[in-house]
Amino acid sequence: MAKFKTVFVCQNCGYTAPKWSGRCSNCDSWNSFIEEVELKEDKQKAKITAVPGKVSPILEIEKNTFSRQKMFFSEFDRVLGGGLVPGSLVLLGGEPGIGKSTLILQSVLNLENSKVLYISGEESENQIKLRADRIGIKNTNCFIYTETNIEKILASIKELNPDLIVIDSIQTIASQELSSSPGTVSQIRECTRLLQEYAKSTSTPVILIGHINKDGDIAGPMSLEHIVDVVLQFEGDSNYFYRLLRPKKNRFGSTYEIGVFEMTGGGLKEISDPGNILLSGENLNLSGVSFGTIAEGSRTLMIEVQALVGNAVFSSPQRNATGFDSRRFQMLLAVVEKRLGLKLSQKDIFLNIAGGLKINDPAADLAVIAAVISSYFDKSLKENSCFIGEGGLSGQIKPVAFIEKRVSEASRLGFTKIYMPSSQKSEVKIKNIELITVPDIKDFVSKILK
Ligand code: TYD
Ligand code: MG
Repeated sequence: MAKFKTVFVCQNCGYTAPKWSGRCSNCDSWNSFIEEVELKEDKQKAKITAVPGKVSPILEIEKNTFSRQKMFFSEFDRVLGGGLVPGSLVLLGGEPGIGKSTLILQSVLNLENSKVLYISGEESENQIKLRADRIGIKNTNCFIYTETNIEKILASIKELNPDLIVIDSIQTIASQELSSSPGTVSQIRECTRLLQEYAKSTSTPVILIGHINKDGDIAGPMSLEHIVDVVLQFEGDSNYFYRLLRPKKNRFGSTYEIGVFEMTGGGLKEISDPGNILLSGENLNLSGVSFGTIAEGSRTLMIEVQALVGNAVFSSPQRNATGFDSRRFQMLLAVVEKRLGLKLSQKDIFLNIAGGLKINDPAADLAVIAAVISSYFDKSLKENSCFIGEGGLSGQIKPVAFIEKRVSEASRLGFTKIYMPSSQKSEVKIKNIELITVPDIKDFVSKILK
């Protein structure tokens, strides 16, 4: 007989404790413990059934050849490593309203020769139908089921026997065997475990949609990330149109490639040439605007950095960065202040990366420094310049990865002056472009301003 016992489970990381406490000792989050019923296996029974399993020499294992299910969008397939693997569990996370349901619904509505069961615990049949009509229905073998009870869901899955299962979202479904409410760690884990059992035994791929909490983790259990085969994140700013599909984990491919999409009135549109999507296309001659590059997988994207340096309004000056790590921004400002002698401590400084995406490529440092200098002196930067390089604490400009690809993309998009780390000059063989090498930021000011 299974025994019920209650434990306190951290809803952020899944850590369990016998007593409630205000702060999780595992992940340091506050107020995240909820009392849940824990299902304990009978230890005696486990001992009896433990017989040695089959172990195989690595050379004698035969490789299974499987065909991957293409997901309609080639950008989606690129991130998955060529399509969905049979029997795999894919977790798609993202903030509410970013377009997760749209991405998956649009993919499955366009699949041909594939029986899909789309289970929604969030929207009614009517709402889904309205959205489907807007996107366009090509796959007439697509079934919708609005249900939150996992036992009922599994029974329907077994009856329909679909080729692909979608759960929208994992936080809304629950098992009647557990008394905790939907969305708690034990419910999410149990439902995922049941779905995984079905997926592996029938080789049916399952896509789970999950919400993200304020720290950017898939809400509730980080532990879910260990269970599933693939974790994807759908990112972007809902005020802008561009969305990135980024793999965080992939057992069947690399986590290197990103997918780029645009949200339109008729659903998502994939963008196969995203080089200049983050450029606003204006303000080319204003002070405080510079251009740089970020490398995302095998692709390079141009970025537009906007800085505003003004006299401080209050006694403690403000530092505000949007789309850029604020601690890194503080570090770069400290370097500029110390190495160039600019009096930034009495200034309010704001930084914005155009396009609404968050970047974390250190190669953008030089563009950030250039934008701040340009705004400080209120002079625009030389026309068509692009800044590539990582800033070091002593003011030196450090080499970056994929330098030739970055320069080549900048050149393709019309930039003619490239400021880059001096140690990498020999790596760039591109013609018809002016390469200006920068060992450190000391004589940078005279070189970059108009
Ligand atoms: P949705 O897929 O519901 O987001 P999520 O499942 O991540 O919560 O997308 C919601 C937003 O997408 C909504 O604000 C409207 C927008 N949208 C479009 O702009 N065009 C469309 O064709 C569709 C279906 C949605
Ligand atoms: Mg949704």
